[in-house]
This record gives sequence, structure tokens and C-alpha cells, in this order.
Amino acid sequence: MILVIFILLIVVSCTSSENRDDESPVYKDKNAPIESRVRDLIGRMTIEEKIYQLTQVAFGKNMNINNIGGEMDKIPPEMGSIIYVNQDPAVRNALQKKAIEDSRLGIPILFANDIIHGFKTIYPISLGQACSWNPEIVKQACAVAAKESRSSGIDWTFSPMVDVARDPRWGRVAEGYGEDPYANAVFSIASVQGYQGDDLGDENTIAACLKHYVGYGASEGGRDYVYTEISKQTLWDTYLPPFEAGVNAGAATIMSGFHDISGVPASANYYTLTEVLKEKWGFNGFVVSDWNSVKQLRSQGVAGSDREATLKAITAGVDMDMADGLYLENVAELIKDGSLPVARLDDAVSRVLRLKFQLALFDRPYVLEVPEEERYLLPEYLLVAEKLAEESTVLLKNEHKTLPISKKASLAIIGPMAKEQENLLGSWSAHGEAKDVISIYEAMQQEFPDSKIIYAKGCDFEGIDKTGFSEALNVARKAEIVVLCLGEKNSWSGENASRSTISLPEIQEDLLTELSRLNKPIVLLLTNGRPLELGRIEPHCQSIVEMWQPGVVGGNPVAGIISGRINPSGKLAMTFPFATGQIPIYYNMRQQGRPRSGKYQDITTEPLFEFTHGLSYTSFKYGELKADKDTITKTEKLVIDISVSNIGDRDGAEVVHWFVTDPVSTVSRPVKELRYFEKQMIRAGQANVFRFEIDPMRDLSYVDELGNRMLESGEYYISVNNKKVKISLID
Ligand code: NOJ
Repeated sequence: MILVIFILLIVVSCTSSENRDDESPVYKDKNAPIESRVRDLIGRMTIEEKIYQLTQVAFGKNMNINNIGGEMDKIPPEMGSIIYVNQDPAVRNALQKKAIEDSRLGIPILFANDIIHGFKTIYPISLGQACSWNPEIVKQACAVAAKESRSSGIDWTFSPMVDVARDPRWGRVAEGYGEDPYANAVFSIASVQGYQGDDLGDENTIAACLKHYVGYGASEGGRDYVYTEISKQTLWDTYLPPFEAGVNAGAATIMSGFHDISGVPASANYYTLTEVLKEKWGFNGFVVSDWNSVKQLRSQGVAGSDREATLKAITAGVDMDMADGLYLENVAELIKDGSLPVARLDDAVSRVLRLKFQLALFDRPYVLEVPEEERYLLPEYLLVAEKLAEESTVLLKNEHKTLPISKKASLAIIGPMAKEQENLLGSWSAHGEAKDVISIYEAMQQEFPDSKIIYAKGCDFEGIDKTGFSEALNVARKAEIVVLCLGEKNSWSGENASRSTISLPEIQEDLLTELSRLNKPIVLLLTNGRPLELGRIEPHCQSIVEMWQPGVVGGNPVAGIISGRINPSGKLAMTFPFATGQIPIYYNMRQQGRPRSGKYQDITTEPLFEFTHGLSYTSFKYGELKADKDTITKTEKLVIDISVSNIGDRDGAEVVHWFVTDPVSTVSRPVKELRYFEKQMIRAGQANVFRFEIDPMRDLSYVDELGNRMLESGEYYISVNNKKVKISLID
């Protein structure tokens, strides 16, 4: 009896706390559990208020001070989310005030933006970051971006992009972490942890968004926004893993892509959005559409009207509608006529509200208005950006040890990239400003104070004007070494920036060829957003340094590498083909029936620079792989060691990549798959041990086309560099 009364009391007290009067509603009580707050608030909302929570609009396209008021007036205080392209916390606070004070329930707005590789302290593009093979520094860089963002009024970034990409014609390869699913998964986790920290409620963290779910990187022909053809097997073993890793790391949101996955658009895909993401993986964050991707279901040919597009997207699992306003126009009607269950609406709204509570937006809706000089480009932020850029830089070629260059050598710095600032930032550079970027030329002057440095532009990035060639040749004649700065403009990669060939424009190649006739050593510095086709020009260069688009620290890291102050340690996260016609070319192809055949008749079938290629100024010697057992059961672990000696005369960092090959399996597996990597600094003359602890279920298994993890007994090979060891897995 006593027990029954006790239970009744608890029930009554819980119920009453959920139904507290309007003076002190549960959802406003910061000590109440988040789920109770969500439930309480949903219980108070009208259908219209709920639909606003699922709507995101852009604000600030025209940020002329005279227009801000008018722009703000257009945004109803009930709005769920705003893409905030401004950087002023005061304007955001004013918008937020309107939401808190002028809406019936005072629900705060969620402010978002594309903070892709830094907010103001721009660091290298993601493809470059991946070449650092240093997830810890990537995490730190994302934490810097989070601080600059939150203090400027942004709560949520549309990053990281974890689309595995194997076609460098696709401009968005710049935004992801390369061709490998495991590498994308590792950097997916690192960036989610960097942005979100341990607590989304902290003043310095922002919500992450994994995008573009899923398979966007498979865009046919490398063109943007188009169809993809992905088998269920490839979906599971190649495209889903980085998303699953990010979800497990706690990513708050996911963006559904623009593209079509084998006939079902990503933003109307019940299988990927609901069955896999929300049901199988238990994702309790929310899905935002990509810009207009709900409306685009009409042009993709799966919806005949806006109403139908809305129904398809929300039913499939898209919770928030970005930009096109279709949810606002149609959801009420869909509820009214019974096409859309209220339960689905409530589910979507609860996901959005949950994040707002997690971010503490109800309890701390405003951000502190701190002066810009206290928010941006702080010395400790720049240090992180510089370290990441140093480690992202890849020394592709260094014949006759041309690099490093003596501090006294006379140098001709030539090329359209040499004095560039803007084009060192890369695409999607948020609030980064060209004026903050150190050009290669400026960095070289600082790095080589005792050298004679002369400059000529030579030519533009593209076009046919060769009038600058003669000056470039004259300048080169007067120097001992030519440092040639070529590459791509920012706008040549990123969204909607596909190219049919990935070589440099003819004019840049011609400049290099002409200079090579002088028989002076040429050091080629490349700034670009994708792997390039270098087959024609590589033979003319003694050294090639891939600096990607490094961000605000610009030419500093590469200058340090040229002088030898920095020993390069970057390694490619994406294959450099020999020629564009080899695309798609990536290291982890499935095994083929005639491994020695199927070659091109006209060119090599090999890439120019393979996945993980990258040189150092020191030399590393790999010992033998030593496994502590050669046979294990499926539940046992196995440890493999390899000793790597630095046999050169300077310290250097080395990345050891561990690959697994499963030669016989129910499903044909790739020739090899990256399963682990580690970077260590090895002192000159010393040897370090690298260790891979194999957990069979994690490292030897594969996922079948239904998403089941399969582990089969049999033989496996573990390889590092050109060493390999066989192990047997028994039942
Ligand atoms: C479209 C892009 O595909 C996506 O990556 C971006 O986050 C949104 N626009 C918002 O700007």
C-alpha cells in the first residue's frame, strides 16, 4: 500500500512538473532534464509554431547597415533557424531578442553558417588537412573555428563534409578528406569532437553537421548536383562509414544531399535517412536538407508539385527544410488532410528543439559582444593554423635533394600564385580576408633575408597572353634556382566547380616548359583544391611541393619547407593520376579477374603519385612486421609491431599506414584497405616502434549490402609499405 501511494506521488509530481503553469513552464527550467523540456514545449506549440521550427532561411545577403532593419523585419520571430552570413554578434543578438521577446513561446533561433575550414582564422582546406594524417591537430583547428564562430553568433556549422571522393574533376573534393573511407571516418570524428567539444552547452562549442548524406562524392563524371550510381554494397562499405563514425562521435546534425542515389534522391530517401540513420544507428539529432533540395525533388523527377516534394522529404526523414520554404507552405495542409501524421511532425520538431536545449540557447540565448580583435586571429589560433598547414604540405618530388635550399642562394620567384593572397584561402573561406594572408613571395622574403630574390609574374592563371614570359625568363636567368608558383584559383574548386581536365591551364604549363629550357633547378609550388594531372610537367621540375590552399598562414609553411626550417611530413590522402583519362583511379579498387591485364594501351595504368605518397628530408628504414601470433580466433586480439628507423641526419615525422587485404571473401574486397594509421616524430638516428592492435571484428570484417557486419575465417594479409604478414582467422 505504502509503495502504491509512493508511486502515485511520483507520477503526480512528474505530471504536475510537466504541466506547470505558464508562469514557470518546465521548458524554461534549466534544471529540468532536456527530454522533459522538449516534451513540455511541444505540448504547448501550435502546428504553425512547430512548422517554423523546421524552417531555415538565409539572412544577411545584403548587409548594408541601412538594410539590416528591413531584412530583420522580414524574419518572423518564430523562425527555427537562420543561415547567418554576418559576423556581428550584435545583429544576431537583436534577431534573437525578437525571437525571445516577440514570439509567444520565446523559442530561440538557431544560427548556422558554412564554417568549413575556419571562420576568420582560415586553415587549410579539408583535403590538405587529411594529408597531415594528424587528427589531433585537425580537432584543435575545428575547436578554434568553433570559438571564433560562437563568439560571432554562430551556433551550428555545416561541416564536416565526409563524402568519400574518387573523382578529382569534382570540385568538392577540396571539402572532404580524400578517397579513403577509414581516413574520412577518422577525420569525421576529429572534427565533430573539435567543433562540439565535450559539451554543446559550453560557450565555445558549436554543433557539427555531417554532409552530404550520402554518396554525393560519387557524382557521375565529376559533375556537381548530378546522379550517382551506388550499389548497396558500395554504399555500405565505402560511403556510409564516415557518417556512421561521425554519428557515433555525437554529431548533432546531418545534411541530406542534392544528389540522386541510384534513382532515389538523397533528400527523399527513406532507406538512408530513416532506416539506416535514425533506426539502425539510433541518431537522435536532426537532418537538414541541403539548399532547396526539397524543392529540387521536382526537377529530379520524383515529385510533381511542391506539396508532393514536401511530403516525400519529411516522410523520408528530412527534419529541417533549408531555404526553399516548402515546409512552411505545405506541412500544415499535409497534416490537415491526414497525409502526414502529427507524430512525424512532432518527431522532427523534438529533434530540433533538443539541439537548441543542448546548446543552452534557451538559458543563454545571447552571445557576449566582444570586440573583433579579441575574437579573431589570436596568436594561439594562428599557431594551430600554421602547424596544420605545415603538416598538410606534401613534398611530392625532390630530385638530387634540390630542397632544402641554402639560405644564401639567389632565387627567382615566378608565377601567377607568387603574390596571391586571396587564392591561398581556398573555397568556402567564411569570413577569411585576403589582407590577412601571407603571400608566398612575402613569406620567402622573410625566410630568406640574405638571398637575392627577384620576381616576375610570367602569366595569368589562364588565357593566352604570353607577353610576361620574356620577363620571367630574364629573371630566371639571373637566379640560381627558380621557385615557380602555379595552381588553381579558389573558384576552380568547391561547389559547382567541376573541371573536365585536372591539368593546369596550358599557359601555366607552357611557362614551366619555357623556363625548364634554361636548365636551372625548378622548384614547383602548387596551390590547388584537387589532385592535379602533372604528367607532362613533372619531368621538368626537380622538386614539387603540394601546398594545397593553406589559409591565412599562406606562404609561411612552404617557405619553411624550402629553407629546411620545417621537415615535410604530409602524405597524399588522394591519388594524383598520371592523366585525367585514368579517373576514377584510387588505391582501394576491388580485386579484378585478370590482375595483370586490363591496362591502358596508350598510357601507364599507374598513378603519378599514389595514395599516401609524400617525402621527407630524412630517410626512414622499415624493419620487419612482427605479429605476436599467426593464428587467432574471432574474439582474440593480435598485435603487430614494426620498427621504423630514422637513418638520416635530421628529425622527422613519419606516418605509418596499416592496410588489410582479405584475398578470399563472400564479397570481393578491395586489393587493400586502410584500417589504421599513426604519425610519430622519430629523432635522427633513432628507431620507433609502431603498433597495430587488431580487433578482428573491427579490422578484418566487412559490411554486407544489408548493413550486417560479417567476419569470415580464413587468411588475411596485413601490410605496411612493401612489407606484409599473413595471419589466419579461425572459428
Ligand atoms: C549548399 C552546399 O551544398 C552545402 O554544402 C552548404 O552547406 C549549403 N549550400 C549551405 O550554404
